[in-house]
Amino acid sequence: MSALTNDQIEELITQSLEARNFSYSPYSKFRVGAALRTVDGKIYQGCNVENASYGGAICAERTAFVKAVSEGHLRFLAIAVSCDFNQYISPCGICRQFMNEFGKNLEIFFVNADRTYKRAVLADLLPYAFGPEDMPSK
Ligand code: THU
Repeated sequence: MSALTNDQIEELITQSLEARNFSYSPYSKFRVGAALRTVDGKIYQGCNVENASYGGAICAERTAFVKAVSEGHLRFLAIAVSCDFNQYISPCGICRQFMNEFGKNLEIFFVNADRTYKRAVLADLLPYAFGPEDMPSK
């Protein structure tokens, strides 16, 4: 069961689809958009940003997280991710690890271009994760 209402899910979907418009993806031509909802109801959008040095590419999910964290947000409820196809886009391994830093209960919506979606929880996508609680300083 989601912590979001249906309207909140639909809003997150709309914002993730909209976020694709700023995708900088001249190499892959694979546009990705993300929309991240904080616990206090703010939504941060993100897109993938590629680089001529291919390994420098940043995924839409991480863009959204970095925008939010850099503005003081550390607690999140959900992220929606979409591309231009109906393929239930799923976050890459680097993004799963990156997002895990901020809570393994994050809800993730894999959004199709036609707005249909699947929902998952980060803990199920990254079992046995190494996270902040494993660090001696915590
Ligand atoms: N990409 C994302 O932004 N998010 C994902 O969940 C999967 C992949 C981007 C990275 C790269 O710019 C392009 O999609 C093709 O891999």
